[in-house]
Amino acid sequence: MKKVPEVGGAREEGDRKERTSEDRFQRREIISRLGIGAVAAAFGIPVLMSVRSLVPNALYEKPRRFKAGKLDLFAEGPTFIADQRVFVFREGRTFHCIGATCTHLGCTVQLVRQPGQEESEAFEFHCPCHGSRFHGDGSNYAGPAPRPLDYFRLELAPDDGQLVVDMSQVADRGWRFTV
Ligand code: FES
Repeated sequence: MKKVPEVGGAREEGDRKERTSEDRFQRREIISRLGIGAVAAAFGIPVLMSVRSLVPNALYEKPRRFKAGKLDLFAEGPTFIADQRVFVFREGRTFHCIGATCTHLGCTVQLVRQPGQEESEAFEFHCPCHGSRFHGDGSNYAGPAPRPLDYFRLELAPDDGQLVVDMSQVADRGWRFTV
């Protein structure tokens, strides 16, 4: 007896083979893409890192000119502005500003009050690092500091009347700003 071929079964077999070959193709495609990605990463990352090394890291310097505050914030005598390392002095309506950066190696000097002295000599600046000492007017008199402390120019901000310290402009010793 002659066997009749099963038409439906052959089609299913064909579909299965087609699906298997499609799966294999997709797997090969994924593996090939992963391979390309790995090679690109292996070469690309060092190249990117070398290019990045040519770009300097951003250096955020404090602004050299800044608003120190409204005039009535300043009491008579010295006010230390720690984050900018300057002393602002007030005598009535007259102001001056002395930098707190030691002229030896840049440590921050400390204001030391001298009890029993005349007002103009009532304090000094002492450097804690190597012992430099400065009179109240900023002039150096002891230790390795080679020169006096810097004076900086002051002005009033035209928009809101705040006191502006301009550290880009070194003033003569004894310079005063009267409002
Ligand atoms: S940094 Fe001030 S004495 Fe050296």
